[in-house]
Parts: sequence; C-alpha cells; structure tokens
Amino acid sequence: MTSQVRGGQLARLLGQWHALPGRRRSPDYAALAAAVRGLIADGRLPLGVRLPAERELAEALRISRTTVTAAYRELRESGHLTSRRGAGSWTTLPGGHRVASSGLWTPQDDLDMIDLGIAALAAPPELIPATRAATEDLPRYLGSAGYHPTGIIELREAIARSYADRGLPTSPEQIMVTNGTQHALDLVLRLALAPGGSVLVESPTYPNALAALAARRARIATHGLAVDAAWDADLLLASIRQSRPKLAYLIPDFQNPTGHLMPVELRERLVGAAHAAGTDLVIDESFVDLPLDGTPVPPPAATFDRHSRVITIGGLSKPYWGGLRIGWVRASAPQVQRLAAARIGVDMSSPVLDQLVAVHLLAEASTIVAARRAQLAHQRDALLAALAERLPQWRVTVPRGGVTLWVELDGPISSALARAAEEVGVRLAPGPRFGLDGTLERFLRLPFTLPAADLIEAVQRIAAVRYDLDRAGRPQWREPSVIA
Ligand SMILES: Cc1ncc(COP(=O)(O)O)c(C=O)c1O
Repeated sequence: MTSQVRGGQLARLLGQWHALPGRRRSPDYAALAAAVRGLIADGRLPLGVRLPAERELAEALRISRTTVTAAYRELRESGHLTSRRGAGSWTTLPGGHRVASSGLWTPQDDLDMIDLGIAALAAPPELIPATRAATEDLPRYLGSAGYHPTGIIELREAIARSYADRGLPTSPEQIMVTNGTQHALDLVLRLALAPGGSVLVESPTYPNALAALAARRARIATHGLAVDAAWDADLLLASIRQSRPKLAYLIPDFQNPTGHLMPVELRERLVGAAHAAGTDLVIDESFVDLPLDGTPVPPPAATFDRHSRVITIGGLSKPYWGGLRIGWVRASAPQVQRLAAARIGVDMSSPVLDQLVAVHLLAEASTIVAARRAQLAHQRDALLAALAERLPQWRVTVPRGGVTLWVELDGPISSALARAAEEVGVRLAPGPRFGLDGTLERFLRLPFTLPAADLIEAVQRIAAVRYDLDRAGRPQWREPSVIA
C-alpha cells in the first residue's frame, strides 16, 4: 500500500474536485475537503496515507495555500485527517471506524442507519434450537483435542450429501470445512495461485474476492457482465483460451452482484475450455440455495469435471447466517489433503461447536431454506416496487435468485449518490466497489436482505438525495450573459 501521496498524484485523484455534483455554492476549501472525504469513502485514498504538505498540494492544484490549510483543518475536524507536528497528516476515519480492505464499510452500531452495504440476512429462528441441540452433542467430542483440520466427519458427510442430492456424487474426503466461504477462497488461492499469478474474474464481482486476490498480488483480467445480458459465452471462452489464466474465479449461481444464473451449456463448455487452457476454475456457490420463483438451478460446474480442474467453494452465510462462519471447499481428496496441510499454518481447524450447529441446520435445510426463499422473494418485490415508483428512470433486471439487485442508474453517479445517501442514513455499496479500476459508476448494488419496510424507507431516502444531486449538478459555469 502507498504510504505517502505526492501533490501531483493527489491532484490527479481529485480530478474536477471544484465542480463535483453536490457542491452547490460551498467555498473552495469546503469543496476540497469534501472531495478528499469522497476519495477516502470510495477507498481510492487508503487509510493511513500521508497527504502532501499544504504548500505542495496548493502548487499542484494551483490554488492558495490558505485554501489547503482550511481544507486540512476541516478534514481534521471531521476526523478524516490526523496530523502530528513533524510527522505530517495522514488519512483516517471519524471515530476510529475502519474500512475493510475491500473498501466496504464495516458495520457500525448506528441504529438509525439502514445498511444496504451488506448483502446477508439476519439469523433464522431455527438457529437457537440448533445451537441448543449442538451443545447436547458436544460431549461426544470433548474427549479429544478437538482439532479437525478438514472438519468434523458428520458435517463433511452432510455437505457431501447435499452435493449428491444435486446430482454430484461426493465423498466426505472431498470436503474441507472452513471458517466461511471467504476463508475457503483464501486457502484455495494459497494452494492454487503463486504470488503474481494470473486470474480471470467477472466484472462486476464480489469485492472481498478481489481483496483476497490482491493479497496474492494476482494479475487480474476481467470478463464484463451487463445488467440484462449475463456471460457472453464466446468472449468468456475466448479469453480463457487466449490468455490461459492460471485460475478463474466465477460465481455462476445468482452472481454477486448481478444475480445472473449461468446456463448449463456454458458450464459444460467452460470446464472444457479451462481444462484445455490449463486453468483451474474456482466456482463460488454462495447463493446456490437461493433460487426464487421456483427457478431451476443447473447442475454444478464440477459435474462436467473429469480432471480435477474445478474447485467448488460454498457456505452457510447466505442461506443461514453469516455469523456462524461455516464454509467449505469441495475438491479432489488429494487437493483437500493439501488444503488441510496449508491450513495448519493458518488457523488449524474450525470450532467444533459451530460445526455441530451447522449439522443441525443442514438436517432441516428444506424447511429453513424454503422460508428464506419466500422471505427474499417478498423483499425483492417490495424493493422493485419502491424503485419503480420512486426512481423509475433506473433500470433493473429482476434476478431469479440470490439476494441483490444490480441497478443501472441514470448517470455515472454511484459514488456521489452513496456519499449523499450516507448523510440521510442509508449506507450503499456503489458500483466501483465491484470492479477494479474505478469504473462501474453507473451501477449500484441493492441487496434485498433487510425487512421490506426498511427497503422502502431506504428507497425514499435515496430518491430524495438523487433529486438533490440533480439540483446541485446544474452547470457550474454559465455562459457570460451578453450586455448590450
Ligand atoms: C460471492 C460471495 N462469496 C463469498 C462470500 C463470503 O461468504 P462467507 O461469509 O461465507 O465468508 C460472500 C458474501 O457476501 C459472497 O457474496
């Protein structure tokens, strides 16, 4: 990470800071401070980075030093800058809040904030009885040390059965239990990708996957998905054939954030192309249990795998509860052994009690998941109706599963909108979070995981600030009027 940003670099990042939407008639110093806050909020200016000295920034921006001094003062007052004599000034967040490495905000305890940054449901009612039942089971494990690097056998069996039920015969030796799907991805990357290795991902994609890839210093290429058109089969297969990435990370089932579902033919062709190119496929099935409206889900990509090219990852966070931290890897038995060996250097194994809770939840999968689907369909429809009423100019394709809408906005306003929405108590994950290079400003991910009333209230607040952006966005520079 950069530890210091030079005047010229910051000036480039700030771009047209003096003409940002929402500026209205604020003085230059306030506009400059707002623009720096925006860069921090968007994750474009990392936390803990030393900003240029006032004089250097004033020169780079061709403005007076007093303006920069006043802007820095305002940033200090709002908690976005910390200065120490002799050490300079570096970026921070108010109240010591932190931004995740993906740039997504970590949840705060602000009860009035409607948090649309997180695409996950609250726990189902069955969690408490499942936890009670798990504590009853615990004594069976207390006589051993409790380390199970691939997971306790009964959970591995239950997960293996769930693949068999989907038409993919799987033995418990092919399953490794992890602390969530993110952990599964990180472990798989450690095993399958040397630092600096090449990876193909969808754009947009899941931001924390990008964070995991960044940790491996992966060289990332993207395959673009549109709002209404999912994977372009020819382009996707051609990019695998031509660039032969070491690994491709894809989310074929109700992709996060677009909600797209990959058709069965493409799954089959993808596995064939990956094998021919020597590419490993990491298939993230986080949302596979959440088809809506009775949508049939095609068989897993691994069904077409004859050469151990496909590593599948999944978990309980989306259908059940993120706080449980249960995920897994499905791979060949030797790959699982190698993953378990890699894991010893990381976290040894997953908590036994949580795994027992997972066993009980999976035993009731059909009831729990049916209720989750009904809840999600209802919330999705409430969100769609609120958008159609309040923001009819936005374009949405109705997702047939998953937990998110990928909305095409009426302009490249996503980050500005997220900043404005924060002011009225709605946290948003703007489009650029889901891409690599600051693109996707015309898109916004809206999860439908909160109760319908919260979603409707959020859309009302968003619609109000969307309207303000327009008013503030009127041309800042008028043609001089002719006086005759
Ligand atoms: C595609 C995808 N993969 C992985 C994760 C992380 O899941 P877990 O909580 O199981 O680590 C998420 C969570 O949002 C996700 O959307």
